[in-house]
Amino acid sequence: MTNIVIVGAQWGDEGKGKVIDLFAPKVDFIVRYQGGNNAGHTVVIGEDEFILHLVPSGILHKGKICVIGNGVVIDPKALLDEIETLEKKGIEIDGRLLVSEEAHVIFPYHKRLDEIKEEKKGKIGTTKKGIGPCYADKVARLGIRVIDLLDEATLKEKLHNNLEEKNAILTKIYMQEAFDFETIYREYLNYAKCIKKYVCDTAATLNDAIRKKKRILFEGAQGTLLDVDHGTYPFVTSSNSTAGGASTGTGVGPTKIDKVIGVVKAYTTRVGEGPFPTEFTKDLMGRIRQKGKEFGATTGRPRRCGWFDSLIVKHSIMINGIDEIVVTKLDVLDDLDSLKICTAYRFEGKVYNGFSSDVKVLTGCEPIYEELPGWKKDTTKITSYLKLPSNAKNYLKRIQVLLKTKIVLVSVGSDRRQTFSKGA
Ligand code: GDP
Ligand code: IMO
Ligand code: MG
Repeated sequence: MTNIVIVGAQWGDEGKGKVIDLFAPKVDFIVRYQGGNNAGHTVVIGEDEFILHLVPSGILHKGKICVIGNGVVIDPKALLDEIETLEKKGIEIDGRLLVSEEAHVIFPYHKRLDEIKEEKKGKIGTTKKGIGPCYADKVARLGIRVIDLLDEATLKEKLHNNLEEKNAILTKIYMQEAFDFETIYREYLNYAKCIKKYVCDTAATLNDAIRKKKRILFEGAQGTLLDVDHGTYPFVTSSNSTAGGASTGTGVGPTKIDKVIGVVKAYTTRVGEGPFPTEFTKDLMGRIRQKGKEFGATTGRPRRCGWFDSLIVKHSIMINGIDEIVVTKLDVLDDLDSLKICTAYRFEGKVYNGFSSDVKVLTGCEPIYEELPGWKKDTTKITSYLKLPSNAKNYLKRIQVLLKTKIVLVSVGSDRRQTFSKGA
């Protein structure tokens, strides 16, 4: 049994798409367990770039089965558009994509509410895809699931009840227009027709596959610091992006999961609002953003960039039970004279050697850094760890020592081939 969770160890966009694509040949199923089309996972194959939002990144590998689990929230239009784009590029979807009947569905009022909240003070900087409001309805037991979408009478009743409440909120609290029941009802009945062929009891399918010794890869979206429980709350997404979410979000019990692999960017980025202790100042921000092409794969927003923060990654290793690490985007640091690694925070005279759940501490702290010399050499064509410049090896070794976790793979470019194992 080798069922693996691949999880982002920072604030998302660590390069999970590339890593999932590398592991996909070794497994039978690739499964998304949380989030929705707020995710943007990039896979580069030669000249072709694919950005996956809802469909698992394993879809690019012929014959692999891709599952959208119960923990995911689905915007049916976004899903159908993505399927169409993939099919146009010659990727076969039918028979290879399974959608959980228990997954919750995003409706236009979720997106509108997300947008409205983002216009107000205290915004999170969300992707405005309706993710938060949809999960809020799920927890409030008002949500409409895929299984409800497939039953005309249930959809009618649930949509009716939901719209009654949502329209009251929109018109009376936010002074916005109400949504028309008939328009949404017809639109979603149409989506239901198109999606029906993919829908099944995915928990049963996955557990049956495990009994038959098939291998499963769980594809985390977002990152640990965006987890609703363990991240920089309230500047988080609304799901459990951590490895634990792989069980609740698929119906595969924790005893069936063998390994957790953390994807770690060689520096740090985040999109949206919220604390970021090691964030660069303007000059370095511009340089690294340009070199690392740090613009959101979903919204195109510039990503905030900063030095490697060992405290947040140590927190991730603990929360996810990470066994091994893949370090990505080392090449982006190629031109720097020297590099900093954050090893502690200082706040109001007190030194913090670990992550703090207090946003006040994370926002106001001064990072304490170690400084290492840069390597000032192009690493993008390097094909083995031994051939890396010695200062690049020293940087990785230092990270490994600080994290007390083995680095198994190093990535020096977006292409599949720009990856090598770290060795001992
Ligand atoms: P994800 O959300 O974790 O899947 O990451 P994204 O796809 O949003 O962002 C990662 C970006 O970095 C994508 O554009 C990748 O093609 C790119 N990328 C991945 N690994 C590397 C690497 O080692 N070096 C460079 N330069 N780019 C990389
Ligand atoms: P992948 O899977 C980076 C961030 C948003 C915002 C917060 C809440 O590509 O790593 P939401 O729309 O989820 O309610 O927004 O979470 N966010 C991401 N940041 N990568 C992602 O996904 C993200 N998905 C959401 O920018 O700060
Ligand atoms: Mg991304």
